[in-house]
Amino acid sequence: MRRVSLRDVVDRLRRLRKGRRRSLERFYAGEHDPFGFDSNPYEAAKFDDLLGVIGAGPFEHALEVGCSIGSFTERLAPRCGELLATDISQVAVERAQRRLAEHPNVRVERRTMPGELPEGPFDLIVCSDVLYYLPARRLRRTLGLLAARLAPRGSIVSLHWLGDFGAAVSGDEVHDRQETAWRDLEHVARLRRDGAGPQGAGYRLDRYDRRP
Ligand SMILES: C[S@@+](CC[C@H](N)C(=O)[O-])C[C@H]1O[C@@H](n2cnc3c(N)ncnc32)[C@H](O)[C@@H]1O
Repeated sequence: MRRVSLRDVVDRLRRLRKGRRRSLERFYAGEHDPFGFDSNPYEAAKFDDLLGVIGAGPFEHALEVGCSIGSFTERLAPRCGELLATDISQVAVERAQRRLAEHPNVRVERRTMPGELPEGPFDLIVCSDVLYYLPARRLRRTLGLLAARLAPRGSIVSLHWLGDFGAAVSGDEVHDRQETAWRDLEHVARLRRDGAGPQGAGYRLDRYDRRP
């Protein structure tokens, strides 16, 4: 498997037109795994951190938004009764569907946030490296809708890289806005991995739970 360097990934991201669907479809059409999720040790370590904060479950109804080609979905699937994974890109969704064909508890659907967020309720919602594709107003709406779809005792786990790729909103801003938008939830885990990943920028990882 050819390994995409982290610097290449950031250069590619800069060329993406602010999370528009057409440019994401082109991005995926050019290469099977343009983000290097299956080849970069950084991504594997990121997924381990996510699983650590998510915990063993089991989760009855889980939602992963922005699932890409299903690399993390595959890791999460054994902890879930039912897992719905969604992405804006049809090309990415078809790859994830092929990858997860042997997992009868997983459904992968093409859906754009915030307009096509599924109804729920979900006892686990995972948003990893996805919310900074949304311009500020759509991000605010999305954060509200995600909380509204969380079941009693459910958890939202969110992770974002803190580097600069010309995103609509930075990773730091996403996590700062979460604190306000999800103030009615309990902030039960916060982790910051300084120095990790592209540009040595690190990432933030937070978990919020709904207390009944
Ligand atoms: C950087 S990838 C993250 C993949 C995976 N969550 C991870 O952390 O490994 C971001 C994904 O979000 C998707 N995406 C971007 N904007 C979206 C939106 N508005 N609704 C749904 N998916 C979106 C992209 O197509 C892309 O596959």
